[in-house]
Amino acid sequence: MRRIAPALLLLCLPLGGCQHWQSVLNARGPAASTLAHMFWIFVSVLATVWVLTMIALLLALRRRRPEDADPLATNPTTERRMTITISVAIGLTLLTVISLTGLSYAAQKVLFAHKDGALTLLVTGQQWWWKITYEDSQPNRVFTTANEIHIPVGEPVLIKLESSDVIHSFWVPSLTGKMDAITGRQNQIQIQADRPGIYRGQCAEYCGLQHAHMGLIVVAESREDFERWREQQISSAIPPGDEERQRGMEIFMSKPCIMCHQIRGTDAGGKIAPDLTHVGSRRYIAAGTLETTRGNIAAWIVDPHGVKPGVNMPTIQLEPDEVQPLASYLEGLK
Ligand code: CUA
Repeated sequence: MRRIAPALLLLCLPLGGCQHWQSVLNARGPAASTLAHMFWIFVSVLATVWVLTMIALLLALRRRRPEDADPLATNPTTERRMTITISVAIGLTLLTVISLTGLSYAAQKVLFAHKDGALTLLVTGQQWWWKITYEDSQPNRVFTTANEIHIPVGEPVLIKLESSDVIHSFWVPSLTGKMDAITGRQNQIQIQADRPGIYRGQCAEYCGLQHAHMGLIVVAESREDFERWREQQISSAIPPGDEERQRGMEIFMSKPCIMCHQIRGTDAGGKIAPDLTHVGSRRYIAAGTLETTRGNIAAWIVDPHGVKPGVNMPTIQLEPDEVQPLASYLEGLK
């Protein structure tokens, strides 16, 4: 029992991962459902092949040649049986491989089906966060956010994928399969959520030190909630509501923060780091690394390299009494 317990525990580990909010088996959209079905079909077929192989192997091991038999003697009956067995085995193998290939091909048609007129997002992967631009025919309704995608439930959404540095891979297991984000070319993938919920995504291509901390979330909500969110995101940043936040805003505008970050409606116009116009409305900061709370924002600003070693955000020189107002201001940007 002592030996079996760790083995069982080890076996449970991968299964434990299947129940969370980032799981291929927790399919919540047409593309993900297709992939989950494929997974179970492949597992069933391969398990059957394995079991049949093991049975054949055991039967073969049980057969014993008599002690006095001539090892070079041939037996026509045995040879005929061998020929038939090998032919059947080759035939079944070919049939299995061809069937699974055909099934994969059919599944691809579902995975890469694009509907015209769908809501379109440009998602740019960069070390180590996701820039998300909601496209619109009216230029004043285009806006940019980071690491949090909102979509209306039950509607297809087209995602155009690009990269501004190395290769990343966009993957939201509950909604769709992986698609690479590559510099100099644009890939496309369509997602759709059949149920409201929050689905976690993750960069799925090793892209450097903080690859593991390049997460994103997809919030699927009703059309009304989505429109409310979109109108809020399109609008400029809300002015600071109290004295502390006012001071925080003045500190932000006096620091190098504005060279990289944008806060629409203020003097901060940087384009290389995440747009912070409504950063307080996002559930996480630093690409899914920390929950958005005043304390976490303060911790992030004071020591970004302690939280996420190697990150491009520099450590800003701040007086001790400047941290709280700054964190308060950013948290208030809902
Ligand atoms: Cu981006 Cu891994």
